[in-house]
Amino acid sequence: MNLLVTGGAGFIGSNFVMRMLARYPSYRIFNVDKLTYAGNLENLESVESHPNYKFFMADICNRPAMERIVRDHKVDAIMNIAAESHVDRSIQGAAEFVQTNVSGTNVLLELGREYKITRFLQVSTDEVYGSLGPSGKFTEETPLHPNSPYAASKAAADLLAQAYHHTHGVPVMITRCSNNYGPFQFPEKLIPLMIVNALNDKPLPVYGDGKNVRDWLEVSDHCSALDLVLHAGKPGEVYNIGGSNEKNNLEVVRLILGMLKKPDSFITFVKDRLGHDRRYAIDSMKIQKELKWKPSVTFEEGLKKTVQWYLDHRAWWERIVSGEYQEYYRKMYEER
Ligand code: NAD
Ligand code: DAU
Repeated sequence: MNLLVTGGAGFIGSNFVMRMLARYPSYRIFNVDKLTYAGNLENLESVESHPNYKFFMADICNRPAMERIVRDHKVDAIMNIAAESHVDRSIQGAAEFVQTNVSGTNVLLELGREYKITRFLQVSTDEVYGSLGPSGKFTEETPLHPNSPYAASKAAADLLAQAYHHTHGVPVMITRCSNNYGPFQFPEKLIPLMIVNALNDKPLPVYGDGKNVRDWLEVSDHCSALDLVLHAGKPGEVYNIGGSNEKNNLEVVRLILGMLKKPDSFITFVKDRLGHDRRYAIDSMKIQKELKWKPSVTFEEGLKKTVQWYLDHRAWWERIVSGEYQEYYRKMYEER
């Protein structure tokens, strides 16, 4: 397989690229990433000279650049992982979210149509379903009701992807996963931000009353599901992915403080996120039954390992916090 992965320098993308190179020695992996603030090639240092791996610094919205890659490297499958992914940033301004998440996806779908791509996996999110009350779970049939500009841009991309399948026969599969955590997650998202702040003895900003609920999944379990859907998913289908592991934010933050032996007094309640979704919970029975997927990491075990990873990789996140992380690679690729 000649597999194009977009957004491979981000959190989930880099974990996915490493998994694929390790598991499929005959595949060639082409990683396209714009290296926004969220892209970090240090995540991929362990595979950068792998013979079956090639990195391109490019924007998925740039149709000629994307077409050159697809054509010249005879790409036969596309995993669209690239996105603007942070809800708070989409509340500050949504233009880049619409550009990358909607227009960028459209560029890839067009190429999927023109170059007769055999598999197209659109990596989406449970946030397209909106917010739940105290009970119930999102199924693949739950109507889309995105609340944040980020979620709206992802829902728009999902609808485009489904339309390209229906109208043009592009073999699109969509996955909608719950909140991920694990190694290489950018420390703007809840879990790594709280770990980094606690390690720096800084306040841990909890939005509102801290009772918003998320369904947490370790990133390697998300990647194993993506791998399965890429190979065995049915075109035109949506697959929910989740850990059946609901926790409210305060519970998560207290667990992190406990693991780091830091006091609960670090917790600081701050102004709530605008339009803050109260609860997400995923029903993942479809992928479990049809593709025999199941998560393998418990939250307690995964969180402990993640905390240890941030302890062991202080230099990685300190370069992010200081802004140093992008300069070296940015220069290297801009000079080419
Ligand atoms: P991330 O922000 O860590 O990484 C996104 C990557 O995309 C970065 O490397 C960035 O440089 C790249 N990128 C952004 N715009 C680009 C463009 N125009 N062209 C090329 N590359 C571009 O995000 P993540 O948390 O790894 O999420 C990856 C995907 O998974 C997203 O589509 C997101 O919606 C989805 N998702 C994330 C989660 C989660 O909890 N993190 C859960 C479910 C779904
Ligand atoms: O559900 C999947 C989604 O999960 C993905 O599609 C998104 O890309 C990903 O960013 C994530 O979205 P959330 O908004 O749920 O994640 P975030 O880490 O930003 O926030 C998790 C919860 O923690 C949420 O209820 C807001 C709260 N929070 C977050 C931050 C950054 C805080 O209380 N304080 C914070 O500083």
